[in-house]
Amino acid sequence: MEVIILESAQAASELAARLVARRVRELPECTLGLATGGTPKALYAELIRMHHDEGLDFKRVTTFNLDEYLGIPGDHPGSYRREMQKGLFDHLNIPSDRTHLLDGSTHDPIAECAAFENRIQRAGGIDLQLLGIGGDGHIGFNEPTSSLASRTRIKTLTRETRMSHAGHFGGEANVPPHVLTMGIGTILEAEEQVLLAFGESKADAIAATVEGPVTAYVPASCLQMHKNVRIFLDEGAASKLKRARYYRETFAGKPDWQRV
Ligand code: GLP
Repeated sequence: MEVIILESAQAASELAARLVARRVRELPECTLGLATGGTPKALYAELIRMHHDEGLDFKRVTTFNLDEYLGIPGDHPGSYRREMQKGLFDHLNIPSDRTHLLDGSTHDPIAECAAFENRIQRAGGIDLQLLGIGGDGHIGFNEPTSSLASRTRIKTLTRETRMSHAGHFGGEANVPPHVLTMGIGTILEAEEQVLLAFGESKADAIAATVEGPVTAYVPASCLQMHKNVRIFLDEGAASKLKRARYYRETFAGKPDWQRV
């Protein structure tokens, strides 16, 4: 696990975007796992800039998103399909049939989740998975106590998560209680993991993820079991790490061949 602490969310997002861009250049047919929420927005803006200014080509890229609300259509203002469409897909040249999100309007969630897992398998698995993190350590919508072996399935949101997403739905009461999410076992199968966290509200979750025990109570701590993980932080999100100095020294002393 490599912990990269930079002076700002913008600097960390730009560096993480370079990692994604490198993957797309080296493997134009790569499969990216994508995340929603406020955290990856600056990274997506940087990918869009690279697409326009540097010709970064996404036409053979395939994407899978982590999660979606259940019971709303893809054009609902709170849906992750709409967020991804407006925030990223509309600005890149990924063919729309290569962008995969779980269908929140499905009447058969179990079949939808199984079909999603099959699509990931048929695409050859996910090469690079982007992750944000909830204040309680959740990744995707795998709330605390989610099985570390879980697959794509229905989950019930915690009150805290519903509250933190109330803004997109005009109040907590309107946030769908159920969601579909890749499981932790699904996420861990991606070849490379890139987790971003910014701001002090994420500091406890990051400290538990990086320096606490591996536990289903902090779903992101599962990343300690993965062999290729980078965690990009700003000062706020890193503020409760006991070994921050060591992570900074390690990053500063990287040999050139290991740099992003
Ligand atoms: C939701 C999403 C997660 C995301 C988290 C944090 O729960 N399902 O994938 O990481 O929110 O969101 P934000 O980046 O807005 O803090």
